Amino acid sequence: MIIAPSILSMDFSSMESQLKQVKEGGAAWLHFDVMDGHFVRNLTFGPDLLKGVRKLSDLVMDVHIMVEDPAYFAPVFMDAGADGITFHIEACKDLDEARTILSLIRSKNKRAGVSLRPQTPIESLYPILDECDMVLIMSVNPGFGGQAFIEDSLKRISELRQEIQRRGLSVLIEVDGGINKTTGKACQDAGADVLVAGSYVFKNDIPEAIRSIM
Ligand code: DX5
Ligand code: ZN
Repeated sequence: MIIAPSILSMDFSSMESQLKQVKEGGAAWLHFDVMDGHFVRNLTFGPDLLKGVRKLSDLVMDVHIMVEDPAYFAPVFMDAGADGITFHIEACKDLDEARTILSLIRSKNKRAGVSLRPQTPIESLYPILDECDMVLIMSVNPGFGGQAFIEDSLKRISELRQEIQRRGLSVLIEVDGGINKTTGKACQDAGADVLVAGSYVFKNDIPEAIRSIM
C-alpha cells in the first residue's frame, strides 16, 4: 500500500519534525488538500506551502485540488512542485473539460487524477478512465479532515477495481477520508492502492499510525 498522509491535519508549528516522522513511518507520498472556499466551504493553502515542503521533504507530492477552477489551478500547483494533480469531475462543466485537464497534467509528465465526491456515480468517469493515471474515491464529503468513513465507499472501490481489470487498464485507486487501521484494511481488501490519512496519522504517533495501515 502507498500511504499518503494528508498535511491538512499536520501541526504546522512543528512541520519539519513531523515530515521526518512521516518518512520514518514509511509513507511514500504526502497529500496536499487544496481548498478554495468555493468548491468546498473551507480554505486551506496555496502553492507557496508546496514550495516550502518541497525544501523539507523528498516524498512524492500528491496534490488534491478541491477548487472550482481546476484548469487554472492545476498548472499553478505543478509549477510549485506537485508530482501529481487530482481534480474533481464535479468542477468540470463536461467530460471534455476533464479530458483537457488530464492531458494538460500528463503533458508535464505528472500523475493525472480525477476525484469523485461520495454521491457522484463511479460510472460517470468511465468514459475517461483510460485517460487517468489515478482515481481518488472520496470516502467523506470533501472539505474537512476528521470525518467518519462512509461505508458505501468499499462497494465503489471494488466496482472501480473490477472495471479497471475488465478493461486491462493500470489506473491507481486512491481513497481519502476517515482512513484508520480498520477502514484502511477494508479499503485495501476492496482494491485500493493508495490511502490518504490525515487525522489518524497526525493525531497519533505518526510512524506507528502509518505502519498500522501499510
Ligand atoms: C477532505 C480531505 C480529508 C483529508 C483526510 O476534503 O480530503 O479527507 O484528506 O482527512 P482524515 O484522514 O482526517 O479524514
Ligand atoms: Zn484529499
